[in-house]
Amino acid sequence: MATVLIMGASSGIGLATASLALQRGHSVVAFARSAGRIQVQHDKLRTFVGDARKSADVARAMSGAEIVVQALGVPANARMLTGPIDLFSAATATLLPLMKEAGIRRLISVTGFGAGESRSAINPLQRLGFDLVFGRAYADKDIQENLIIQSGLDWTIVRPGVLNNGRGTGRYRVLTRPQDWRNGLISRKDVADFIVRQLTEDAYVRQAPVLVR
Ligand SMILES: NC(=O)c1ccc[n+]([C@@H]2O[C@H](COP(=O)([O-])OP(=O)(O)OC[C@H]3O[C@@H](n4cnc5c(N)ncnc54)[C@H](OP(=O)(O)O)[C@@H]3O)[C@@H](O)[C@H]2O)c1
Repeated sequence: MATVLIMGASSGIGLATASLALQRGHSVVAFARSAGRIQVQHDKLRTFVGDARKSADVARAMSGAEIVVQALGVPANARMLTGPIDLFSAATATLLPLMKEAGIRRLISVTGFGAGESRSAINPLQRLGFDLVFGRAYADKDIQENLIIQSGLDWTIVRPGVLNNGRGTGRYRVLTRPQDWRNGLISRKDVADFIVRQLTEDAYVRQAPVLVR
């Protein structure tokens, strides 16, 4: 069982990952600016109120952690269209040197279908709409992915398709080969299932699979 620091654990994939990791016997440090509002009660859960951009917060939260999960997100509002968005790159630039200093090697980071080289798998017609809505966030996720890939750590980048709040089915595809990449739906709980499996497996180390149903 691992002690995992989850960045962005107050909602969405991060919260689903925290809950599932606890269910499966892991210890969790749940990090977010609003971590104080996390409703989950568990003796292996520690909540940590902090900002992922701030080195001092991240360094303190990291104490005792063996694995880091990044599940940060920006709200889907007008800012997403007009930017600027630099949360993903800034938080990653903060995180990586601290992980190295602390001797933590395993990093599992959520980006999304369309980030990095998976952009080539977006249908050219859909690319226009994608860029309009998500272009700024994904340009920053590209920088994030590059920082992670160059980090020398034991990373896995997780690129889910379109998220929903459906149930966890355990039935989803893990597409590692570029020729198989495609968009599709997936529940946050299924993404959490994949992430929690990676806490004890190394099959996807230094890989960046697309996840869809
Ligand atoms: N929506 C989709 O269809 C889709 C598809 C593919 C990929 N994705 C990506 O999947 C990821 C997770 O999305 P989601 O909707 O499940 O999550 P979400 O509900 O947007 O949660 C984002 C988390 O990040 C935290 N956060 C934001 N800024 C922070 C900061 N400065 N310091 C610390 N924590 C911070 C938030 O907590 P606080 O605000 O309390 O800090 C929250 O816990 C995102 O990167 C998203 O872009 C989304």
